[in-house]
Amino acid sequence: MTDVVAFPQDRTCPYHPPTAYDPLREERPLSRVTLWDDREVWFVSGHRAARALLADQRLSTDSTRSDFPIPVERAAAVRRRRRAALLGWDDPEHNIQRRMLIPSFTVRRIEAMRPRIQATVDRLVDAMEEAGPPAELVGAFALPVPSIVICDLLGVPYEDHDFFEEQSRRLLRGPTSADTEDALAKLEDYLGELVDGKVRKPGEGVLDDLVARQLQDGAPDRAELIQLATILLVAGHETTANMISLGTFTLLRHPERLAELRADPALLPGAVEELLRFLSIADGMLRVAREDIEVEGTVIRAGEGVVFATSLINRDTAAYADPDVLDWDRSARHHLAFGYGIHQCLGQNLARAELEIALGTLLRRLPGLRLAAPAEEIPFKPGDTIQGMLELPVTW
Ligand code: HEM
Repeated sequence: MTDVVAFPQDRTCPYHPPTAYDPLREERPLSRVTLWDDREVWFVSGHRAARALLADQRLSTDSTRSDFPIPVERAAAVRRRRRAALLGWDDPEHNIQRRMLIPSFTVRRIEAMRPRIQATVDRLVDAMEEAGPPAELVGAFALPVPSIVICDLLGVPYEDHDFFEEQSRRLLRGPTSADTEDALAKLEDYLGELVDGKVRKPGEGVLDDLVARQLQDGAPDRAELIQLATILLVAGHETTANMISLGTFTLLRHPERLAELRADPALLPGAVEELLRFLSIADGMLRVAREDIEVEGTVIRAGEGVVFATSLINRDTAAYADPDVLDWDRSARHHLAFGYGIHQCLGQNLARAELEIALGTLLRRLPGLRLAAPAEEIPFKPGDTIQGMLELPVTW
């Protein structure tokens, strides 16, 4: 018997799964890991088992249940006290919230945003060129692109970005549980005031649409609207920013692949899909079983916690040949980087559009783009949060 591996682990290379999970790859599709509170939970690493389980409504996302697995101590107090909008609810409540938002995130709505996203990206590259090389790409590009875009979509003033980016960082990365609590309170106060202002003076944006709905139907109520605004604002910028920074770093570390992309921009949509699979930045989706569930010969008992290791699921040899190779000639479709089932990412069309435009423009306009520091010295995020680069020094 090997010792039970602790979850989560830090990556050793920012674009590969943590090497500490290697023994668990051998034990696919399910094994056991321990959490910080010594609790043992199921660790899903097989692609087929993950799809079956994520589509199974006997698994719950209700973090206020005492048996719900919480991967980091600093998140425990907030998550036990209350659930996030959408992600923390099971159907039927989840479905009611999700249906209010679906019209704002259809492929058509997002396609219509492309010219504005392109203009934002161009403006940021202009500013980088004007300032001249080198640049720190997270601050100059990877974070502002999705921040500006989500502000535009929701109707949040981008002037406030220093504030909400800082609170999102504290919410996700602490360092202490006091930070997590305080950051959530600050974000909700801020969004509460914003929403109240929109009741008095409506504008254009998803939050304004929700306010109009509230005034007409009474739902969502103020508290629910603020919680929806919080998840949309945080999920809307943090994740995509990490994909842009880690995606760029990964491409710069794969020069032959990068040259192909520069030569043929038509490869971009496939490359984005493969990067999503390869990087699996949301590495650890969480559930608890409400009833006994059998999957591939194993029984998950009611009350047991389940962690989905996206980085291993998306590198399952049963689903992808040579999964550790970055290769957009394959079809990366069916990857679970955006999850699967009822909670599958609401913003995925938006994220794809942003990634295609951001990465495509960066490569086209800065053909000499390269790292400005040795790759091994560039800091990346720890394993207990969404994966990405902390900084990305580049030159061109
Ligand atoms: C590349 C960027 C992104 C990645 C990798 C990503 C990943 C994910 C994943 C894995 C989930 C499912 C979590 C689970 O089932 O436990 C999810 C859900 C969600 N994402 Fe994203 N996301 C990204 C961008 C966005 C954007 C731009 C938005 C903008 C609004 C967004 C909003 C949401 C929301 C609201 C949910 C919850 C959906 C529900 O519970 O019905 N995400 N995302």
